[in-house]
Amino acid sequence: MKRNLEVVLSPALLPFYEIKNKTVVVIDILRASSSICVAFNTGVKKIIPVSTPEECRIFKDFDFLCAAERNAMKVEGFNLGNSPFEYQNPLLKERSIAFTTTNGTRAIKLSKEMNAAQIVIGAFLNLEYLCNWLKKQEHSVVLLCAGWKNMFSTEDTLFAGAVVENVKTTFDIDCDSSMMAEQFYIQSKINLEQIVRQSSHARRLKSLNVSDEDLKFCLQLNQFQLIPVMKGEYLEKM
Ligand code: MLT
Repeated sequence: MKRNLEVVLSPALLPFYEIKNKTVVVIDILRASSSICVAFNTGVKKIIPVSTPEECRIFKDFDFLCAAERNAMKVEGFNLGNSPFEYQNPLLKERSIAFTTTNGTRAIKLSKEMNAAQIVIGAFLNLEYLCNWLKKQEHSVVLLCAGWKNMFSTEDTLFAGAVVENVKTTFDIDCDSSMMAEQFYIQSKINLEQIVRQSSHARRLKSLNVSDEDLKFCLQLNQFQLIPVMKGEYLEKM
């Protein structure tokens, strides 16, 4: 029997889906899922997604580096924020990180609370490697867009569309959000950067003087042959 694939456009919609026995791909292109991929490419050992900066801080006592972003800014007093470039630092090799972000880690934790069979992280940076793996693994798939505070987001939806385009012959795909995401990606892929630049989160990052290089970096295709996967409470490299 063919497996099913659905696109969930916001974490607020996830409770309307059944995700037990499914693989959930958490997508937060700008920037959490991209930064997580970079961290594992650098050699980070494990990442624990946590809900709040307060909870994150506790992990300092257990030899974790603590990373916290709120409203697109690094929270004061933490080792790391959420720029992908921070996660290229070779000093992160073999380290463990406690990580909390406005939307990305929230989407991961919600998927866990709702008992997804598997939770993995998707970004343009690992698009092809992820798609090849999705085709081989045994479960139906939910592509969960982390969005912004439960709102729809352009860049996450475009990535979901890129996955649909790549894997559609392997899965049964009949939900409108998947069809919309794929069409949006097909129409936008030639001007991906230009389209994403118009998104509300890109404009938010710009207004906060976050380097333009972050956006360009996160839109690079197929840089990494890895998939971050939840093993118990931790993200690890697969
Ligand atoms: C998030 O989780 O909301 C983000 O990745 C926001 C950001 O730091 O750009």
